[in-house]
Amino acid sequence: MRNHLFFFSTDAHASPFDINIALDAGFDVVIPYSSVKPEDAEALTHDIIFSRGPKGTKHSGIFVGGANVDMAERIAGTAARSIFEPFTVSIFSDPKGAYTTAAALVAKVKKAACGLSGKKAVIFGGTGPVGSVAAVLLAREGARAAIVTSRDAASGQAAAAEISRKHGVAIHGAAAGDPNARLELMRGADIAIATVKAGVQVVSKELLETLERPVIVADVNAVPPSGFGGLDPHDDGKQIAPNVTGIGALAIGVVKYKTQVELYKSMLKKKSRSGFEAAYELAQSLA
Ligand SMILES: NC(=O)c1ccc[n+]([C@@H]2O[C@H](COP(=O)([O-])OP(=O)(O)OC[C@H]3O[C@@H](n4cnc5c(N)ncnc54)[C@H](OP(=O)(O)O)[C@@H]3O)[C@@H](O)[C@H]2O)c1
Repeated sequence: MRNHLFFFSTDAHASPFDINIALDAGFDVVIPYSSVKPEDAEALTHDIIFSRGPKGTKHSGIFVGGANVDMAERIAGTAARSIFEPFTVSIFSDPKGAYTTAAALVAKVKKAACGLSGKKAVIFGGTGPVGSVAAVLLAREGARAAIVTSRDAASGQAAAAEISRKHGVAIHGAAAGDPNARLELMRGADIAIATVKAGVQVVSKELLETLERPVIVADVNAVPPSGFGGLDPHDDGKQIAPNVTGIGALAIGVVKYKTQVELYKSMLKKKSRSGFEAAYELAQSLA
């Protein structure tokens, strides 16, 4: 039987990025559904399982994507609750690519730092989907402090409180609206991560050169300029300033791609439900 992937997207357009990788990973066809809402998920899922029978559902998967992370989670949850024995359909959610990206990012940083326990990490732009998931993974790894920053103090505190409440971890919020404020936060950190909007530089090379104790920096933004001045997207553990070791967006992107491919492939092997935890487990073996 042919392998069908049903792509439920919260966006007006299902992402070609996720479609390409699904086809590369072994799905024969990807059927996109756009602007999907949680209340649509049960009927869509029932149409998937009843039309192909128990044998056919083993060759069917549901991918949930789109920019609205909360809505994507609710869609994935409703789809999962709508599948019952003897039907088996795997579900993989990766809204805005945030789960596989954050998983690859933290796995690369963990490797470069030889472990995360007790480390202090600051995540610039941590109010966004990638930074929020990275904060959770760092906290679960025992980072002494995971700090998400925003340009606005209240937004940073609110995001930190929400992430902490939702995932049962202790995340701190901070304001870092300009390069000097960001540098101050970096002075006390072991790890600094840039997950700000694409194309925004967080700290210049000149400021990075003033740091007096070792810091690992990692950036997921592949659109120039890079988040940290002097960091090339291909850098993978390169010294970019006297006390700064850098990991660039493409070094992280390779692990993100492989992680996504493997999660798609696993959907066809056995019934699975994958989110950011599964992505992180896999990314650590691929980093
Ligand atoms: N390498 C990969 O494979 C891959 C995959 C997916 C995403 N990405 C990249 O990952 C990064 C994060 O993605 P995302 O979806 O989480 O990001 P996002 O939601 O677009 O932005 C993250 C945060 O950036 C801050 N921000 C927005 N404009 C800013 C500006 N002009 N200056 C400073 N901060 C600004 C905002 O925080 P405040 O408003 O609170 O300040 C926002 O919450 C992006 O650069 C994206 O391109 C990479």
